[in-house]
Amino acid sequence: MSPTSRPPEAAILKPYAPPARWLHWIMAALVLAVIPAGFVMMNMASGPAQDRLFDLHRSIGFTILCLAVLRVLVRILNPPPDGRKACTGTCG
Ligand code: HEM
Repeated sequence: MSPTSRPPEAAILKPYAPPARWLHWIMAALVLAVIPAGFVMMNMASGPAQDRLFDLHRSIGFTILCLAVLRVLVRILNPPPDGRKACTGTCG
């Protein structure tokens, strides 16, 4: 294939369904928020600010848990496009 030509139609992977994509990126953002929050709250002086961060951390953590359950249901209802399978360690 020359550098300017487009890949054949069959080689273009279809995107995942919008709910799967949204859940993926929302969860990624929440995980990236909850981890530093965990470290910060562990290393700060106790008091109302720490209590608020504990509450925030717990809320985000439980939200992640709920979204993970939802994600499994979305995955069951919307199988991956193109019959893609989950990577089992021998992908590629
Ligand atoms: C993906 C990452 C994480 C998730 C989903 C998560 C989720 C949660 C949840 C749901 C709770 C509430 C548990 C309960 O009240 O029984 C919790 C509590 C806690 N987490 Fe995390 N956590 C994460 C990362 C971390 C990290 C990186 C730290 C510390 C470095 C941390 C430290 C703590 C501590 C100290 C508590 C107890 C807070 C309290 O007493 O209310 N977590 N976490």
